[in-house]
Amino acid sequence: MTVKYKFPANFWWGSATSATQIEGAADKDGKAKNIWDYWYETEPNRFFDQVGPARASDFYQRYKEDIQLMKQIGHNSFRLSISWSRLMPNGQMNEQAVEFYNGVINELIDNDIEPFVNLFHFDMPLAYQQFGGWENREVVDSYQAYAEMCFKLFGDRVKKWFTFNEPIVPVEGGYLYDFHYPNIVDAKKAVQVAYHTMIANAKAIKAFRKLNYPHSQIGIILNLTPSYPRSSNPADLRASKIADLFFNRSFLDPAVLGEYPDELIAILKEHGQLPQTKQGDKELLKNNTVDILGINYYQPRRVKAKEYLPNPYAPFMPDMFFDLYEMPGRKMNPHRGWEIYEKGIYDILMNLKENYGNISSFISENGMGVQNEERYIKEGQIQDEYRIEFIREHLKWVHRAVQEKCNVKGYHLWTFMDNWSWMNAYKNRYGFYSVDLNTMERKPKKSAEWFKEVSLNNGF
Ligand code: NOJ
Repeated sequence: MTVKYKFPANFWWGSATSATQIEGAADKDGKAKNIWDYWYETEPNRFFDQVGPARASDFYQRYKEDIQLMKQIGHNSFRLSISWSRLMPNGQMNEQAVEFYNGVINELIDNDIEPFVNLFHFDMPLAYQQFGGWENREVVDSYQAYAEMCFKLFGDRVKKWFTFNEPIVPVEGGYLYDFHYPNIVDAKKAVQVAYHTMIANAKAIKAFRKLNYPHSQIGIILNLTPSYPRSSNPADLRASKIADLFFNRSFLDPAVLGEYPDELIAILKEHGQLPQTKQGDKELLKNNTVDILGINYYQPRRVKAKEYLPNPYAPFMPDMFFDLYEMPGRKMNPHRGWEIYEKGIYDILMNLKENYGNISSFISENGMGVQNEERYIKEGQIQDEYRIEFIREHLKWVHRAVQEKCNVKGYHLWTFMDNWSWMNAYKNRYGFYSVDLNTMERKPKKSAEWFKEVSLNNGF
């Protein structure tokens, strides 16, 4: 392969996963229930094909073989998450979980794959959710204790830590739009949950720094959705700015700059939506910002001014300030109803360079979900040319950002193998490897072979 797009030395090539989505063994070896186990038990009809997380992709049993598959496609890094309810069921350390995560981490390192470890990926232990989950400030302290335990147990080997994956998603899903447990629709609670998450992030970072691992980094993973206004009309510009404040900057600013944007505070204040805070919170946020930022990028947000004035008596919702619209001529993923806009990844990186001190970052997720991928099988292999094109076109923009001195250090695909995706269960497949749900057999798709070449050549 002649390499036209060459990436900097030691660029991270790999993929990302999360505990609930791949491990399975949901009630084995001492693991307690998390909200997903519970929600599925109580409302299986809300999950695609009524499939729950009990078995997922069976990584718990097969991780050694899976790590060989990662190695075979040239991964030099891989993201997993630790399951809080496995490691600390009932608040106590679970030896069997320690053994499992030690096994995974050591196996990765022995195979020259750097483990990137995330602490929270949508999987609140049920016991804490029964006390309000992130609504309850005491849960923040429990999370801090969990984070500390992870650092102490695995910090001698794990050099890249992440406090949260997409912390806005439990807010949107659990407290605004009803696609995660606890299925509450209440913006005031949503704001409190978002705020507590960022307090938890700062507390974990503080604890991490105190333990002093000078060669390690800690960060957060955010799904950034660049907000593009329909026109340069002031009303559209304002709508787009507010969408950006709610859906990006409400996490990006406290994580990287250590403070909330004034405009966001002003809007919340005006509408009586400010969260409850504690003395010392401001300093806590200011002094404990991230070393590194993971960026999950799938699609942009196309925004226009509201068509109609919102009902003044309707409860506060972020979308009372803007409408979304379908930009004519936009490119779509025909399988998922999501827009594909590759340049968005570059716009995010340039924004970080210009407005966020060019913080060290990497693409922690990007990927393409496709239904019924078996229809693309030829000679026994899924010929996912669409995924190759998707990755390639995004990588070109990442490459351009590197040329323009953005501090971006790697690219991870979502995801390593097809996995269980929350309410969508196994509907959309994203993996480099397909997984046969009857036999659990893994098979490389064409994209896996292509990505191997890219990783080994450090470009394409
Ligand atoms: C983002 C999330 O981190 C992951 O859990 C999810 O499955 C993928 N996006 C695909 O939607």
